[in-house]
Amino acid sequence: MLQDVYLETEHMILRRLTMADAENLFDLDSDPEVMRYVTGGPPHSREFITEKVLPHYLSYYDRFDKFGFWAAIGKATGDFMGWFHFRPFKENPEETELGYRLKKAYWTRGFATEASIALIEKGFCELGVTKVVATTMALNTRSRRVMEKVGLQFEKKYVYPGDPFPGWRAEDCLEVKYGLTKEQWESTASQ
Ligand SMILES: CC(C)(COP(=O)(O)OP(=O)(O)OC[C@H]1O[C@@H](n2cnc3c(N)ncnc32)[C@H](O)[C@@H]1OP(=O)(O)O)[C@@H](O)C(=O)NCCC(=O)NCCS
Repeated sequence: MLQDVYLETEHMILRRLTMADAENLFDLDSDPEVMRYVTGGPPHSREFITEKVLPHYLSYYDRFDKFGFWAAIGKATGDFMGWFHFRPFKENPEETELGYRLKKAYWTRGFATEASIALIEKGFCELGVTKVVATTMALNTRSRRVMEKVGLQFEKKYVYPGDPFPGWRAEDCLEVKYGLTKEQWESTASQ
């Protein structure tokens, strides 16, 4: 099991996902509030999780040594809290994309910030990452707050290349991108 651990923080262990996490992911993606800025609210079905979502997450372990999706497990409880990803950014693989999705019970307790800070440090110090980026819907102020708290800087607001969520106005589906280079991170870390 130890080799499956990617990262340990004060309150969490980030470990590899397995097919046995299907129910955990189903539970996470069943909450319309969690899914609000992912699908517009509709949950993912069990079938979609087992046939599409989880195989996609697991495929990262075959393609990359050091990047992928990681289950967040509460150290005190052993509970599945959600996941973080740290992966090559699809629009520019030179950049490393940070992302997160936690169960609502764990929101606003600093967990996304705690793991993100640790991932950024691991990326720059161990993994050879030169720039960390993150994107979210412009309206997702909670996610944007995490990006700001961990030192990422606003880069741009743009139209997401895809249809707006059903029932949403196109102007409510704009995306934002934030970024932090290793040089920027080092200069703030040394202050
Ligand atoms: C985004 C998410 C991971 C944040 O996790 P979290 O553990 O609650 O984040 P943290 O507690 O570390 O930080 C949240 C910050 O947002 C603030 N916040 C809470 N609600 C907010 C709101 N509606 N608007 C703006 N900021 C808000 C909190 O006060 C906190 O900032 P502070 O420390 O300055 O007070 C979590 O809300 C989530 O999983 N959301 C659903 C999935 C999602 O949207 N993921 C991102 C899509 S790209």
